[in-house]
Amino acid sequence: MPHSLTVRQARLVLPDRVATGDVVVEDGIITYVGPQAPRSAGEIIDGTHLVCLPGVIDAHVHFRDPGFPQKEDLASGSAAAAAGGVTAFLDMPNTDPPCVTAARLDEKFALAAEKSVVHYGFFVGTNGDDLNALHDAVGRAVGVKVFMGSSTGPLLCDDPAKLNALFAEIDAPFAVHAEDEARLKERKLQFAGTSDPADHPRIRDEETALRATRFAVDLAQRHGRRLHVPHVSSAAEADFLASVPRDRVTAETCPQYLFLSADDYERQGTRIVCNPPVREKRHQEALWKHLRAGTFDCVATDHAPHTLDDKAKGYPKAPSGMPGVEWMLPLFANEVANGRITWPEVARWLCEGPARAHRILRKGRLEVGYDGDLVLLDPDAIKTIEDGKTFTKVGWSPYAGRTLRGWPVLTVVLGNPVFRDGGIVAGSRGRPLTFAR
Ligand code: DOR
Ligand code: ZN
Repeated sequence: MPHSLTVRQARLVLPDRVATGDVVVEDGIITYVGPQAPRSAGEIIDGTHLVCLPGVIDAHVHFRDPGFPQKEDLASGSAAAAAGGVTAFLDMPNTDPPCVTAARLDEKFALAAEKSVVHYGFFVGTNGDDLNALHDAVGRAVGVKVFMGSSTGPLLCDDPAKLNALFAEIDAPFAVHAEDEARLKERKLQFAGTSDPADHPRIRDEETALRATRFAVDLAQRHGRRLHVPHVSSAAEADFLASVPRDRVTAETCPQYLFLSADDYERQGTRIVCNPPVREKRHQEALWKHLRAGTFDCVATDHAPHTLDDKAKGYPKAPSGMPGVEWMLPLFANEVANGRITWPEVARWLCEGPARAHRILRKGRLEVGYDGDLVLLDPDAIKTIEDGKTFTKVGWSPYAGRTLRGWPVLTVVLGNPVFRDGGIVAGSRGRPLTFAR
């Protein structure tokens, strides 16, 4: 049920500045944003010394539901989201069974309605064969996720003719896992026998990503489709994306490419193996430059939890992917604390950007008429990330050992507090996201 709530005298993060003031949410909708509300509604939260942002939207998570409850489900994943100030997520289709039909999508909506404490949207997947089934499913999905290169799970569509037919026939927004399968296969052979995780970015090299990204952009342009390029990991792809017309192409990078680099393989090994890979430092630097310059519409976590038992299988047997949803906002808040970025940039990359890229209605801004999804963060709270102290079921973090300044203390979904005092508030539930087409 939508609720009412008033935040008094917080540092409100607006698109162009930070200003001290009040936010009033009535029946789930923001009815006042300004210096001092003439009246309050619902519970009054003292925001003095706190930063108030629109709820973060994580446009790329793998919450593993149905299929892999030992890794995550929509309850644990959405709890990790809420703890990280995330009030909405877009979930990927490589579940078991994969989400490739309207019936599978309905199942996911039902699971989320039952379990998710924040708002949710879903991508549908395809291997490029059953376009009729896909056609029936896309209407209620945020879009179609296409794995052009193989990653975790059976979904793959690498045949150029099938990809062409897909973009020609399915009138929906596309998101692609852009790694070129043919080059990937070749390079796997070249590196056969390696057990060194540091070879991961050599196998899945920059060219592997660039080729697929170029091809996907070309498909989108030829067929007039919207295309989102998730998890951009390399300088070359970012340079390319900065050079193409962006009227229907959006792009995202991820915290693991901004806050980790190939230097970390030695200490972290398979824990930080993901697809596309964490690369050398020069890519990290280029991605920050492009983020500031506006090449990326948003940053999303690609939260892809695997158990430590899975990760202990060694390279290359261990599955790719790492959890992330609960640490993205703190990682960025810490950058603000260190004076490297600003709060309006954080709101642009984590809140408004993803809402715009995926045309999510009424989300991503502190503005009258928008949904009352907020996060209040203590910019002076200092905490060290530790394995074993996580909301994600897998119980570990690629950022373990880092001490960050700036942590969420209250996450609000449609006026309902869902995360407060370090825990999840029993009973509240998110809603399905809605999209403009
Ligand atoms: O590293 C990854 N993990 N990349 C993907 O594309 C899938 C994801 C997963 O689901 O584990
Ligand atoms: Zn992913």
